[in-house]
Order: sequence, then C-alpha cells, then structure tokens
Amino acid sequence: MTVTTDRDGAIATVTLRRPEALNALNGNQLNALLAVATTLSADVSVRAVILTGEGQRAFAAGADIKEMAEMDPVQALAFTRLGHAVASAISGAPQPWIAAVNGVALGGGCELALACDIRVASQNAAFGQPEVMLGVIPGWGGTQRLPRLIGAGVASELILTGRRIGADEALRIGLVSAVYPSEELLGQATAIARTIASNAPGAVQAAKRAMAVVHDTDMAAGLAFEAQAFALSFATADQKEGMAAFIAKRAPNFTGS
Ligand code: HXC
Repeated sequence: MTVTTDRDGAIATVTLRRPEALNALNGNQLNALLAVATTLSADVSVRAVILTGEGQRAFAAGADIKEMAEMDPVQALAFTRLGHAVASAISGAPQPWIAAVNGVALGGGCELALACDIRVASQNAAFGQPEVMLGVIPGWGGTQRLPRLIGAGVASELILTGRRIGADEALRIGLVSAVYPSEELLGQATAIARTIASNAPGAVQAAKRAMAVVHDTDMAAGLAFEAQAFALSFATADQKEGMAAFIAKRAPNFTGS
C-alpha cells in the first residue's frame, strides 16, 4: 500500500508510503490518494485529517520524475489533471486537512501541502518548487496556490529560481504555521487536529468553505457568503449548545447536528 489511513477517533492520518523514492508520487499513488481523500470526505465521523510521509527524510520529493520523463503532452495533461483532482479533493474536503511536513516537500510534494488547510513542519523539513530546473513548471496547483498563500513576490522568487528553503524560512514567510523537532511533529499535528475535532463540526466546515471563497470572489460577494453561512449556523443544535455551554460555564457537547 503506497497510501495508508490510520484512524484515531475523529482523526484520520494519511501517510504517503514510498520511502525508497522519498515518497515521490507516481500515477498509481496519486489515484490511491484520490480514493482515500474521496472516502474520507464522505465519512462524517472524520473531523480532521493529517497528511504526512513515511520516514524522517521526506513528506514527498515531488511527482515521480522517472515516470514523467517518458510522458508525451497528452499524458502530461492527464497527469497534471490528476494532481489537480487530488489537490481539489483535499482543499474541497469538508474536513480540515493538516500537512505534517516531516522532510522534503518539493515540487508536487509542496503542492500537496499547499492544498491542505494548515501546514506544520519538522525542523529538518525543506520546501521548494524546483520544476523549472527540470524544464517544466509546477503542475499540481503551485503557480496558483503559492502566490495566494505567501504573496506574489516571494512566490515568484521561489518558483522562478527553484530555490529550496528550510523550515525556519518557511515559517518566516508564512508557508507553515509552526516548526517542531521531528519527534514531536505528529504529536503536535494530532493536537491541532484534536482541537479542531473538539469544535462544532458544522461551524468548522462552514468556516473552511467561507475562507475558500476568498480566492474566487471579490470582498462584497465574500462577505455575502460569510453572512449566509453565519446565519445558517443558527439552524444547528451545536450553535445552541456552544452558546448555552459558554453561558453555563461548562464544556460544550457537540453532536454535529
Ligand atoms: C522519482 C525520486 C524523486 C522524484 C527522489 N527520488 N526524488 N524518484 N521522482 N521526484 C528517488 C531517487 O531517484 C533515489 O532513488 C531515491 O529517491 C533517493 O533520492 P536521492 O536523490 O538519492 O537522495 P538525496 O541525495 O538525499 O537527495 C534528496 C533530494 C533529491 C534532494 C530530495 O532526491 C531530489 O532532488 N529529488 C527530486 C526533487 C524534485 O525535483 N522534485 C520535483 C519533481 S517535479 P534511486 O533508485 O535512484 O536510488 C514535480 C512536478 C509536479 O514534482 C507537477 C506534475 C504535474
């Protein structure tokens, strides 16, 4: 199995497992990841997902260069579209996805992390979009998601030079939100996932959806979307429970209804 899923209550951990190739993703593995993401999206008992790579060296060293080397343009189009489908399955999932970047996240590996809602990294993590050094460009969403996340100037410098950066620089430019020692990474990612899972599920999902429209709309339409989603949260039992619990000075018991 090149992609595995482990469940711990409401939290699913998805692990890319091809350590002999530093978890570089070929077509088979992408299809497996797409199937996993689709299954998890349909499972209402999953409230947060962690994406990581097997071993200490790599989250994912990119798309499989050996597989890409033989592609013609038609095959390359299918490959980029498959990567887009995987990234969209993650970014469009109802639950938040957290990338726990445990080593190199290069090319398509960085792009998978970009598709997640939150990125945390180990101290030995490294990020980069080295595609131009291979005669191609980022093809799993990097040209679109990296500028949106960290701004056009820094994204341009990274994509046009192919320069690799370490975890501290990734933290400074806002590519990741925290850096931990390797041995703490999964525990810290799980703690974030648990905190998310303890919140009202419908509210978490609505907040993720509302933030997603930032990139597709102007401010007025975005605020209109937010207002609708905010109002709709008052149709849930969890809104009544969350506010009643605050007023009664007790912990809320969210049911997802
Ligand atoms: C295929 C890969 C690979 C990749 C590593 N390997 N990255 N195989 N595709 N992307 C394989 C190596 O060939 C080698 O296998 C094994 O993993 C270990 O890698 P080494 O290079 O020996 O390790 P090291 O010297 O430590 O260097 C690590 C590394 C380097 C710096 C991460 O492997 C590297 O630069 N990899 C390529 C990174 C990259 O350019 N990624 C972007 C790809 S383009 P063997 O069997 O030879 O020992 C992309 C486009 C996405 O992602 C969009 C597509 C549409």
